[in-house]
Amino acid sequence: MIVDVVSIFPSMFEGPLSASIVGLAQERGLLEVRCHDLRDWTHDRHRSTDDSPYGGGPGMVMKPQPLFEAVEAVQALEDEPGKVVFFTPAGVPFTQTIAEELSGEERLVMVCGRYEGFDERVLSLADVDLSIGDYVLTGGELPAMVVIDAVTRLLHGVLGHEDSSADESFSDGLLEYPQYTRPSVYRGMEVPEVLRSGDHARIEAWRREQSIRKTARVRPELLERLPLSADDRRIIEDELATPLISATTGTD
Ligand SMILES: C[S@@+](CC[C@H](N)C(=O)[O-])C[C@H]1O[C@@H](n2cnc3c(N)ncnc32)[C@H](O)[C@@H]1O
Repeated sequence: MIVDVVSIFPSMFEGPLSASIVGLAQERGLLEVRCHDLRDWTHDRHRSTDDSPYGGGPGMVMKPQPLFEAVEAVQALEDEPGKVVFFTPAGVPFTQTIAEELSGEERLVMVCGRYEGFDERVLSLADVDLSIGDYVLTGGELPAMVVIDAVTRLLHGVLGHEDSSADESFSDGLLEYPQYTRPSVYRGMEVPEVLRSGDHARIEAWRREQSIRKTARVRPELLERLPLSADDRRIIEDELATPLISATTGTD
């Protein structure tokens, strides 16, 4: 996959994208990230990318001209123009389902906002405008890195074990079950017996129950979209019968 990023701070991407799985994906040729400085498409002496808002108000707005020219020029670098992703807190909430959809693309062009955001006309270039959460950051660079990271680990051949991402939180609509590794007892805390039993059917049932309990506890709205059996509903009822604070602190 090729990802082109347009930003006024392209150097922000150097460190975070060179380490770990995203770095390895690039080394292995499974991902190529190219960062472009939006100021390369300005035509004035000050290389300005922003201007004051029509109608008044605080802050500055990103001008349409450098953004239109940048996106068009970057798209023209390859035969395939790629899906264009803009970042804005007012966008579609980014989810694992969207990460999966984007991981099927050969090419993405990402555009990072700054200041008070984009001149609205620029959004006509977007195939999708994404928000990474209900809070306001200073720029779209961190959201772009978040999306690149989430998408990269879904690319074929990136994770060692192809099932690694299939079992994770959100992949089946539930949060992930608790995981443990050696030692079996640490500071008096024991790994649940079922996980050491070797009984795969029991382990699978336990994991599903734990996923349902965790999701009911912290993200109940996720359950509304899932087909739930009578057993699932009993587990949820049982989980919610315990008050939240004592459930999370482990006291009665
Ligand atoms: C300070 S924000 C602009 C906020 C805008 N005035 C608003 O109220 O929606 C500047 C840029 O940061 C990026 N940004 C900030 N928060 C974001 C979020 N939660 N998700 C995606 N992008 C975000 C966007 O690219 C945005 O254009």
